[in-house]
Amino acid sequence: MILREMRMKDLKQIAALEAELFIEPWNEEDFRREMEENEFANYYVVEHDGEIAGYFGLWILFDQGQITTIGTAKKYQRQHIASMMMDAIEQLCIENECEFLSLEVRISNIPAQNLYKKYGLEIVSVRKDYYANHEDAYLMMKPVGGSL
Ligand SMILES: CC(C)(COP(=O)(O)OP(=O)(O)OC[C@H]1O[C@@H](n2cnc3c(N)ncnc32)[C@H](O)[C@@H]1OP(=O)(O)O)[C@@H](O)C(=O)NCCC(=O)NCCS
Repeated sequence: MILREMRMKDLKQIAALEAELFIEPWNEEDFRREMEENEFANYYVVEHDGEIAGYFGLWILFDQGQITTIGTAKKYQRQHIASMMMDAIEQLCIENECEFLSLEVRISNIPAQNLYKKYGLEIVSVRKDYYANHEDAYLMMKPVGGSL
């Protein structure tokens, strides 16, 4: 397993994984725009035998790290790939002197909430009607290098 920055040539595979993993998936163009036009964006993949096993996005907005997406291909789930990515996210936040790490997660997404809780994030508020299908989101947060 290697962790490396996402490349344009990964985007076809990433878009296929998005469709496999998310109710409202991003397409190749969404990722291309993030990578080319958003100076705050950082996108990484976990590669195994030439295949993308997982990926994440992290916006580093001054003193805040915000996870925009994180996913593990179904065949690689429960093998600690997301844990490896959470470690990398924490490290990126430390290197960039972020004070807080935050994200939004569907209130129905228990696997992801468990992952984030394991890494010290706590639910701090509810964002009503956050998603296109009207589902609410939990805002989860933690101080970088610690927990709330
Ligand atoms: C959430 C997700 C990224 C976890 O990826 P993963 O590589 O399987 O996670 P890991 O193997 O590193 O698991 C780490 C922890 O997450 C939690 N977890 C992961 N999958 C879980 C599941 N199916 N049910 C309950 N808890 C789960 C557990 O706390 C686990 O710790 P443990 O192994 O000590 O029990 C993956 O299920 C996924 O891609 N889901 C679809 C996309 C998604 O919802 N992304 C999050 C958007 S906010």
